[in-house]
Amino acid sequence: MCGITGYIGDSQAAPVLLGALKKLEYRGYDSAGIAVLDEGTITVRKAKGPLSALEEKLADAVITGSLGIGHTRWATHGEPSDINSHPHTDVSGQIAVVHNGIIENYLSLKEWLQTREVVFRSETDTEVIAHLINFYYTGEKASGGMPKPGFGEPPLLRAVQNALERLEGSYALAIAVADYPDRIIAARKDSPLVIGLGQGENLIASDIPALLPHTRDVIYMEEGELAVLYRDHVELINAQGGRVIRAPSRVEWDAEAAEKGGFAHFMLKEIHDQAKALSDTLRPRIKNGGIVFEEFDFENFSFEACAGEAKRIVITACGTAWHAAMVAKYAFEHFARIPVEVDIASEYRYRNPVPGEKDLVIIISQSGETADTLAAMRLAKKGGNRILAITNVVGSTLAREADLTLFTWAGPEIAVASTKAFTTQLMCLYLLALKLARVRSRVTEGAYRNYIDELARLPLLAEELLSKQKLIQRFASRQFNKTKVFFMGRQFDYAISLESALKLKEISYTHSEAFAAGELKHGPIALVDKNTLVVAIATQTALFDKIISNIKEISARGGASLVITWEDNPFGPVADEVFTIPKTLDPFSPMLAIIPAQLFAYYCSIQRGNNPDKPRNLAKSVTVE
Ligand code: M6R
Repeated sequence: MCGITGYIGDSQAAPVLLGALKKLEYRGYDSAGIAVLDEGTITVRKAKGPLSALEEKLADAVITGSLGIGHTRWATHGEPSDINSHPHTDVSGQIAVVHNGIIENYLSLKEWLQTREVVFRSETDTEVIAHLINFYYTGEKASGGMPKPGFGEPPLLRAVQNALERLEGSYALAIAVADYPDRIIAARKDSPLVIGLGQGENLIASDIPALLPHTRDVIYMEEGELAVLYRDHVELINAQGGRVIRAPSRVEWDAEAAEKGGFAHFMLKEIHDQAKALSDTLRPRIKNGGIVFEEFDFENFSFEACAGEAKRIVITACGTAWHAAMVAKYAFEHFARIPVEVDIASEYRYRNPVPGEKDLVIIISQSGETADTLAAMRLAKKGGNRILAITNVVGSTLAREADLTLFTWAGPEIAVASTKAFTTQLMCLYLLALKLARVRSRVTEGAYRNYIDELARLPLLAEELLSKQKLIQRFASRQFNKTKVFFMGRQFDYAISLESALKLKEISYTHSEAFAAGELKHGPIALVDKNTLVVAIATQTALFDKIISNIKEISARGGASLVITWEDNPFGPVADEVFTIPKTLDPFSPMLAIIPAQLFAYYCSIQRGNNPDKPRNLAKSVTVE
């Protein structure tokens, strides 16, 4: 998804903007650009392709100026091209805009502007914003309202406010205007934007890693807010036009946490981060052998009361987070014996769901900014449900709008394919399931404590498992050319099969699907031939026999098989390969069983010559529908 940034300070803006855009690359993009303001002139440079293409263009010319805005574009309206790249300017070239989001009514605005002689250069929705601001700004200037710093709302701000009022859809915007060399204007609606407060410089960006080389003091912009960034201070204005004072938050994690730390790719690093991340998610919530959610001690929402009363749990999310929800369904039903309904957020939001008065609604999102997930959350809220969010991003829209939030504490996840966010989401969900089980007296105090002790072993077991990555690497080097890879399992293992298939297709571009192993004979077996690899996830001991039969059926049709299972298992004689994971309780297996599947996807991607961190067509944070 697009990344935006802006800089105003004493340094040269161009290198700062390029540095920030590099930190936003993980979001996925197909072109990039910057606009720098100097002595009343805005210079724009943009290029299709990786940032290096833009850097090449910049190498030919010295672009001076200490105010600028920058953008990495992930095409939505109009193909990736130099012209469609941001920044976009108005007809005069005096107003430059970068945008993340989608302007849904851009066609009608474009037609309206065209009737006023505006000539469009690009196919983007964003260009209308630059022209609209120009339309209102020219009007303001014509009516005598020239810029008078310190004399109430300057015409520029009024022009931006008027333009924003006409926009339907989502936006994070940074705007530079030649008449105003002392400020950048930023605005947000349904797309994230963070302000970085530096010494004699201020910045804006879609995400924190872009700010960290300059500052750890940040302000998360709220829905509908405008910000005016000067060199030495920042003004915030809410949707009603009132001034807002908000204390900055301090970013506690290190910039290095967002770097590769010696690994070839962010994805591999993040797979390896999982042992620590699981521990970071678990430890703060264990007090005296029990589970304590200190974040839930709010007057109006006692988790204990809500969980105790809940008749049903509804979980909704997208992609990998939805797979975490699938695992949670089995965990909640197994431990707490409470019915769980799981829905993909994009389905939930349009299917006219029936909210139950005593539903506990859980929304899961790594980024906390996924458009469909936020829409589902708002719908559930409107239906009167209390919202418990699980997210990795402090200050995200989800965290701010939910009634309660459990943070996954996974640290920044940069690779597009989610790994440590998934396992830490699972850890949060298991903690909730066990707490709920105890609150509802579904487990004895003794069993509850034993379960917690076992959860606490998982980081170590993950470490042990990761030390065997070479075995998976070797297996991937033999199998990466398979044209079809299926994952199958039962119950918890079915949920992990779904996530495993997603990982493989995302980064290796291999056609991979998951199915419940019991469904094999109901259709998928028709596809099995000698070009097929079937990976069975088999951690539910009571169902081992069933999986043995499934594997025999695959071998009989020429398919190759790999089983991911416990060390003590019966699969050696039937499967082509067995990869073992250290033993924990069967219901806790998902937090371990996914790790070999992540590694398999990673190494297949490498073997196929792909960049696993930036898979084609995908974005890290899907902030549009
Ligand atoms: O940020 P979110 O967890 O809401 O993102 C949801 C999905 O877009 C995300 O999990 C996606 O499927 C990943 N690329 C999976 O690796």
